[in-house]
Parts: sequence; structure tokens; C-alpha cells
Amino acid sequence: SECVSLSPMMEAVPAPPESERVCVFGTGDLGRSLGLRLLQAGYGVVFGSRRPHSRSSLLPHGAQVLGHAAAAQSAHLIFIAVQREHYDFLVPLANQLKGKVLVDLSNNLRKNQYPEANAEYLQSLVPGAEVVKGFNTLSAWSLQNGPSDANRQVYICGESVEAKQAVIAVATKLGFSALDQGFLSVARELEDFPLQLFPQWRLPLRISIGLSAAFFFYLLIRYVIYAYVTQGEDISFRIMVSLANQVCPIVSLIMLSLCYLPGVLASFLQLYRGTKYRRFPDWLDRWMLCRKQLGLLALGFAFLHVLYTLIIPIRYYVRFKATERTVSVIRENRTTEFDTTTAWRGDSYLSLGILGFGLYVLLGITSLPSVSNALSWREFSFIQSKLGHLTLLFCTAHTYLYGWNRFLSSSTYKWYTPPGYMLCLVLPSVVLLLKLLLITPCVDRTITRIRQGWERGADQ
Ligand code: HEM
Repeated sequence: SECVSLSPMMEAVPAPPESERVCVFGTGDLGRSLGLRLLQAGYGVVFGSRRPHSRSSLLPHGAQVLGHAAAAQSAHLIFIAVQREHYDFLVPLANQLKGKVLVDLSNNLRKNQYPEANAEYLQSLVPGAEVVKGFNTLSAWSLQNGPSDANRQVYICGESVEAKQAVIAVATKLGFSALDQGFLSVARELEDFPLQLFPQWRLPLRISIGLSAAFFFYLLIRYVIYAYVTQGEDISFRIMVSLANQVCPIVSLIMLSLCYLPGVLASFLQLYRGTKYRRFPDWLDRWMLCRKQLGLLALGFAFLHVLYTLIIPIRYYVRFKATERTVSVIRENRTTEFDTTTAWRGDSYLSLGILGFGLYVLLGITSLPSVSNALSWREFSFIQSKLGHLTLLFCTAHTYLYGWNRFLSSSTYKWYTPPGYMLCLVLPSVVLLLKLLLITPCVDRTITRIRQGWERGADQ
């Protein structure tokens, strides 16, 4: 009798609720990895297949495989991990797909491959369903390995708020954070996103390549070509180390200044407007957003400068010259005086370079997500702003001391042009002067009040 009383109850236990079951169309790499992750997150997974009876052994264990129509009926949310060219198979399923949420995961091979976004095309094929574009920035690899710091974010867009919420809920359970980008018309942009190689690096990379090329040719003319034309001397071998060891630190110092200039400009803009509640111009926003990349590239160039400097003593040219000098001193029976000023100068500029480089590396390390995540905002901004400007100060002082009093002698200005290190001092000097103005007590007080929400003219 117990059995009899139990069995109706057993039957009353509902099948897993539909929302807990998710359907995946497409059994390729991406579909399988997504299915596996969904299973791991506790969802029931149904694969839709053309031939449900010949189940591939690659499909994740625990997933169900049904025909397309049956699979579509079994879940509210359906991931479409199929290439756009094969979307036609969905048209005859219009009835089963009515009211369902279709997540379009597709990507294209190049920009503007089709007249409309894949997700919009899908919506036009199945007008009764709610299409959400999303997850297309993820790879099968990142799905299998789980989200890491760098790719925790996924972007979605779509017309229906409820549909997007359903997708966000799944994304959250999988460990991703989904950012709603708006209506389906944004899909095109999202589909272009994975096609861009290092989008935030593009501008900083161009700047560094442009600066390197410009300074390389400038220095080539000033040293190598100048020596050839005026003295008939061939010093082209100097391109490899001497020239490189000027281009690298020069580009590094300019890029480091470019990293701190927008922050300083933004402070002055706030000071001028007397409020923090107005948006910065677009160019300034974009510039601020690539500061990390500018800084890391600058660090790379500084690193090369340090390596080039370390090999100076083992260079044939340097050893040859040093021996030659020693031999001539002995031959001519001269004595040389030790010059304390030169020693002070040399040691000071080297020491400032080392301190600058040490802080530079610290800045680079703390900009890595795994490190900066472990810091509070106060700690992070202390390091990136206070220590950042100190780094710029050390590196600038290193270069000034290296130049010393050479700006006074006319032989420095070959063909009436200033040497590279003088040119590269302009920008950091401006940034440091502006920063100095900003930290004078009266300006600093106003800036702090503005940052706390005070507005000029709002008191009256
Ligand atoms: C020049 C050493 C770090 C910027 C020099 C020179 C040396 C030197 C020996 C003269 C090179 C020559 O005569 O050809 C060092 C050492 C460093 C260091 C030992 C740290 C371990 C830095 C850093 C910067 C920097 C972090 C910042 C970007 C410069 C600049 C020049 C220079 C702009 C002038 C280049 C020119 O000849 O036009 N440094 N440096 N240095 N250094 Fe550094």
C-alpha cells in the first residue's frame, strides 16, 4: 500500500523545470565546449542534431541528443553554435522556436562579410523567436578552461529585456559577467569585436612605431650621415647599438610622458570648468583609456635601453677606444687627473636611471590584473599616480644629468639641430611642471573639492 501511495507522488515530481534545461544547436568545437560548461554549472543540456541516433563520442557525457524539433521544444533557451551559412535549417522549426530565446554565438571571418549582422539575419529567419547576440568573444578554449581575469566579460545585445535577462542569468552561472550593450542593432559591432587584433594596443603601438621611426632617421642624419659628410668617416656600425640605445630611451621617456599627460590635462579641465560632472571630450577619454598600454610599451623600451646599456663594456668599439687611450697615455708619459665632478655626475645620472627603472617595473607589475585586483583603489591610485609621477621625475632627471652642460656648447648642435635627448625632454618637463602646479596647496584644495562633488557657482 505504501507503494501505491508513493507512486502518485513520484509522478507529481515535476521534470527538471524548463529554465534549468538549455539547448545547444551545433556539435562543433564551440557547441561541445559550451555544453560541457553548462553541464558543469548544473544545467541539463540537450543537443539538437540532424542525426540524433548516431551520437558522436565527442559530445560531453550526460548531455541528451535529440532531433532539432524535439530539442527546440525541450528548452526555453537555445544556443545557436552553427555557422551563418547553415541557419536555413531553422526556418522549418518556426513553430517550435516561437517565443524561445535564441543566442547567436556566431562570428565572421572578416569585417563586412555580409550586408547585415548574423544575429539580425537570424531574427529575420525566425521572427517569432527572441534573438540575443552574445558570447561571441569567447573561444572554445576559454570555455573549456573557465573564465580567467582577462576574459571574464561577455557582451550581449538584443531587443527583449526578458530574453537578455535569461541569457545574463546563464552567463553568471557559468562564471562570466555579461554586459548588456543595447538593442540588436549593436550586433554588428559585437561581431566585429573578435576580428580586431589587440584593439586597445593599436594606438599606443602606432605611436611607438611612429616615434621610433622618426627619431631613428633624425639620429641617423645627425650622427652617421653628418660624420660621413663633414669628416668622410664611416661610423655606420653605430646604428646597431649606439643609435638603438638612443632611440629606445627617447621613445620610452616620451611614451611615459604621454601616459601621464592626459591625467594632468583632465585635472586642468575640471579646474577650468569648476565641476567634475561634465564629460571629457572623446579624444581625452580615448587617450585615458590607453594609458596602461602606453605605459607598458614605454616599459618595454626602457627595458631595451637597460639591456643595451649593460653591454656597453663588452663592445669591441668601446674596448678598442679604451685600450687606445691607455696606450697613448703611457706612450706620451701623461698623467690624468681624477675629476670628482665628472664622477658625481656619472654616478648620479646612472643612479637616477636605476631608481627610475626600478619604479617603472613596479608600475608595470601593479598594472597586471591579478596584482591590481589584490589592491584597494587607494593603493592602486597611490602607486599609479604618485609613484608614476616620481618615476617620470627620476627618468627626466636622469636624462637632464646625462645632458649636463652640453646644451651650452655649440658643437652639440650639429647642423643646427638639437640632440635627441634634448628633444625628448620637452614633453616630460611640461608634464612635470603642470603636475607641480596641480600639487601646490591652493590648486590641490580646489581640485580635491571638485572631486568630492563641489561645483563652482553652485554655492550661491
Ligand atoms: C642615456 C644608463 C634607465 C632614459 C643613458 C646612458 C646610459 C644610461 C649609460 C647614456 C647612453 C649613451 O651614452 O649612449 C641607464 C641605466 C638605467 C637607465 C643604467 C637603469 C638601469 C633609464 C630609464 C629611462 C632612461 C628608465 C627612461 C625612459 C635615458 C635617456 C637617455 C639615457 C632619454 C639619453 C639617450 C641619448 O643618448 O639620446 N642611460 N639608464 N634611462 N637614458 Fe638611461
